[in-house]
Amino acid sequence: MKEDIRRIKDAAIAEIDAAPGPDALESIRIKYLGRKGIITELFKKMSSVPAEERPHLGSLINEVKDEVTCALASKTKAVSGYEEEHAEKIDVTLPGVPVRAGKIHPLTKTIDEICGLFISLGFRVVEGPEIETEHYNFETLNIPLEHPSRDAFDTFYLSREKRYLLRSHTSPVQTRFMEKNSPPFSIIVPGKVFRPDATDASHSFMFHQVEGLVVGEKVRFSDLKGILEIFARQMFGRNTRMRFRPSFFPFTEPSAEVDISCILCGGREFTAKRCSMCGGKGWLEILGAGMVNPKVFEAVGYDTERVTGFAFGMGVERIAILKYGITDIRLFFENDIRFLRQF
Ligand code: DAH
Repeated sequence: MKEDIRRIKDAAIAEIDAAPGPDALESIRIKYLGRKGIITELFKKMSSVPAEERPHLGSLINEVKDEVTCALASKTKAVSGYEEEHAEKIDVTLPGVPVRAGKIHPLTKTIDEICGLFISLGFRVVEGPEIETEHYNFETLNIPLEHPSRDAFDTFYLSREKRYLLRSHTSPVQTRFMEKNSPPFSIIVPGKVFRPDATDASHSFMFHQVEGLVVGEKVRFSDLKGILEIFARQMFGRNTRMRFRPSFFPFTEPSAEVDISCILCGGREFTAKRCSMCGGKGWLEILGAGMVNPKVFEAVGYDTERVTGFAFGMGVERIAILKYGITDIRLFFENDIRFLRQF
């Protein structure tokens, strides 16, 4: 029996040494130490052994059991280390899993760019409410009652008494700000505006504007021209030229509509004739501007003898359409990921 025990031990140790992985080791454990395992069976055979030999054989079998258990444990540890090293190793040469990052909306991007540019010129960003009163949207801005934009068709009114409306431009923030602040200051006002226009490729009932207002002593029209020229060159390229056309806005006097040389054909006459962007005109309108009308200063209690200022307002969609060559304003608002992913 002693010989049998020794052979069993040697066989078990040899098998453990040769085992390639955890599955093989588990089979060996069951084969020798399981409920019907070879070593377990040895204990059962003790009953047929003469009583005086039992203590000696018993401890011998226990020793073998411990030895095999230890060998199994250390081999298991060794193969699992091997597995970690080999099976779970990260292959750094495999191509990565692409992460689909979100994108900034082209309008947000354009607003950020415009504001960033004016901030670098010393302007401060100010915002105002989208629900306005007739007082700020019209009256303080010298827009008289008979002015066409006062017509209910041009403005979304929120109440029958016409007290509240959705602002039709960002200009009311001018007088809201001036009522609470004293010159000198330079502000830039981004925001949503609303007009009941039928939606088509170039109209949306909601769009965005950026308003600018600079007020102080001796602020001149040439300052306006200088600031806008810096803006146009940074936004559309160094060679961009500007043109000021006389125009009318109730809140500025004199007023101008400002064009930039066509960013596609450069406004060169012979190419302009065929240009799809400017339609041959060579110029693209980008904003309205002017010197603040003294009536606006009066509305906020400023001393019109002392302060002067200029203001301008631009459509963000228009700027983005020109900058990125977008053909339809509705693309901004349809949330089509194929469009938005391009910016
Ligand atoms: N508020 C005008 C509009 O919505 C744009 C504008 C024109 C703003 C001239 C100004 C300005 O500040 O001086 O059409």
